[in-house]
Amino acid sequence: MKKTAILFSIFALVLLLMGCKNESDNYIDPRGTDYAGSESCIQCHQAQYETAFHSSHFKASSPPTKENILGHFTNGRNTFVYDKDTKLVMEERNDSLYQVLYKNGKEVEAHSFDVLFGTKHAQTSAYWKNHYTFELPLSYYKSLNSWATSPGYSATKVNFERQIDKECYGCHSSNIASRYVETSSDSITFMTIEVEDFMNKNTLLYGIDCERCHGPAKQHVQKHLKFPDLKIAQNIVSFKKLTRQQKIDACALCHSGNDKAKIKSRFQFKPGDKLSDYFRAIPGSNDSIHYDVHGNQLGLLAQSKCFKKSERMDCMTCHNPHENSSQNMVVYSKICMSCHQQTKHTEMTLTTISKKSLQNNCVECHMPKQMSNAITFQASNSKKKSNYMLRTHKIAVYPTNKK
Ligand code: HEC
Ligand code: HEC
Ligand code: HEC
Ligand code: HEC
Ligand code: HEC
Ligand code: HEC
Ligand code: HEC
Repeated sequence: MKKTAILFSIFALVLLLMGCKNESDNYIDPRGTDYAGSESCIQCHQAQYETAFHSSHFKASSPPTKENILGHFTNGRNTFVYDKDTKLVMEERNDSLYQVLYKNGKEVEAHSFDVLFGTKHAQTSAYWKNHYTFELPLSYYKSLNSWATSPGYSATKVNFERQIDKECYGCHSSNIASRYVETSSDSITFMTIEVEDFMNKNTLLYGIDCERCHGPAKQHVQKHLKFPDLKIAQNIVSFKKLTRQQKIDACALCHSGNDKAKIKSRFQFKPGDKLSDYFRAIPGSNDSIHYDVHGNQLGLLAQSKCFKKSERMDCMTCHNPHENSSQNMVVYSKICMSCHQQTKHTEMTLTTISKKSLQNNCVECHMPKQMSNAITFQASNSKKKSNYMLRTHKIAVYPTNKK
């Protein structure tokens, strides 16, 4: 009896191992056979994988596991009151989490958390209905440590009908249903039209993965697996060889706002491409003085003298693309000082702050946190609109508060 049990578990183990092996060999990436998937990079790029895997980019969208969902489901912190008869409650049912609408104590409507967006300051969620996703009315905000209305939603009326379309996925995921055909719209411009308008959940790749930034890498992987002694990278775009503009474009794809006319889908972008082949500014719509702090780091940075007057500044001057931005202002100040060795502040400025703190706080004064006008939300039972605070990338002289 015991023997058979052991034999059986060995057999099961062997099956399991074979299963795993087969799975990685037969990995099929929904983007096509040119792609290898992030898992395949670990064996040779452990360092990059470990940092990137924990970054906000990897969690820019994610599956609705309990671990991933920010926000409370118990202890009275899971209820949002619209009026005396209407409330929305976060509930766990079986293995899924829901936003449930009650009217006069009776359940009226319930939708599950199916896709999560965001992780650093806030998280909003969507549910699937047929081939489309719709936003859940409540989102979680770290600044409040609680649920509040999703951006722009009413605090008195519940709405389950706002669609989360492909645009959101274009900046927050690595793929969703992207098959394209080329058609010419006029004699000059080639438009690339997606074959499917609807979204297919099986083609969703959560988060911004290695190949979203580096382009398809299957051939790179195969080559280096076959020739492990090769020390020079093969079959992959090297950022080192790109121009400043190309490097900036690779980030600006998602960090330069969303107000331009689209020519091609963001999903088709590969490092080295020109962003001007993907978007065209809409004449007149370019309200450049009022770029919002949300989603337009490049627009703001490009207004700074630092950016305009230096030949090399790009996003990587201050950010490691595999890591989150650091909370450590001393590190950033050192980067500032690498170009600003002999800045002389006026006596007036120096009376507001000690010399040492000045050296560690360039960012506090020259890249202050500002309110987003694009994103506002309301907490339960609150008339007050809360704003979303982000650091501006317009490096400049701002009025300082005397301490
Ligand atoms: C079998 C080993 C192997 C695998 C698997 C592998 N790489 Fe590489 N990769 C290398 C080697 C070797 C280099 C060159 C040395 C270096 O830069 O680390 C390299 C370099 C790179 C570079 C730098 C290119 C440059 O010139 O700047 C990138 C980007 C890269 N790999 C991305 C990936 C991605 C993405 C994956 C997974 C899809 C991946 N690699 C999987 C071996 C591998
Ligand atoms: C495909 C779209 C996309 C591309 C390409 C992209 N980003 Fe992002 N980035 C995002 C999104 C979305 C977030 C917000 C993630 C979140 O918090 O949920 C983000 C967040 C960040 C953050 C803040 C992370 C944190 O937690 O502090 C930094 C810094 C950043 N990106 C820099 C870059 C740089 C540098 C590049 C170019 C190498 C780049 N991004 C390319 C979409 C993108
Ligand atoms: C043009 C690219 C782009 C599009 C389109 C876009 N986002 Fe974002 N989103 C970003 C970037 C970049 C950030 C993080 C930096 C910031 O806020 O400036 C972000 C931040 C967020 C956050 C907060 C994450 C955090 O940092 O805590 C949420 C939630 C979010 N987006 C949801 C959405 C939803 C839902 C849509 C569609 C309605 C959408 N986004 C469309 C680029 C985009
Ligand atoms: C947000 C975009 C982004 C993501 C996601 C990303 N990379 Fe990178 N990676 C870059 C950029 C940009 C560089 C060039 C950095 C530079 O020149 O300073 C780079 C450089 C590299 C290099 C060259 C060595 C180095 O560290 O500079 C390797 C190897 C690499 N990436 C592998 C990976 C792997 C593996 C993943 C996934 C686990 C990944 N990258 C995810 C943007 C990204
Ligand atoms: C790559 C080099 C470089 C880096 C890094 C850099 N700057 Fe600059 N910065 C410049 C240049 C060049 C100018 C223009 C100087 C001039 O006009 O004489 C400038 C101008 C400025 C100005 C004057 C702005 C104005 O509108 O008059 C301030 C303030 C400033 N930088 C602060 C910073 C801070 C703070 C940091 C770090 C967060 C930083 N810089 C990082 C190169 C840089
Ligand atoms: C001169 C340095 C500098 C440059 C250049 C720079 N950043 Fe930043 N970035 C910062 C600092 C400082 C922060 C704030 C970090 C913090 O508060 O923890 C930051 C934060 C961010 C955040 C998170 C915003 C937030 O408030 O959570 C994003 C997203 C980001 N940067 C994207 C970019 C992109 C994209 C580029 C290139 C267009 C870029 N950055 C260029 C210094 C820089
Ligand atoms: C307490 C806020 C504060 C801090 C901290 C601070 N600055 Fe300034 N900075 C100012 C103000 C205010 C001005 C304009 C008046 C002046 O020059 O004193 C200024 C001016 C500047 C200028 C423009 C000078 C010129 O000649 O046009 C540069 C460059 C600059 N700062 C860089 C830095 C750097 C680099 C750091 C970090 C080492 C830093 N600042 C820290 C408030 C600050």
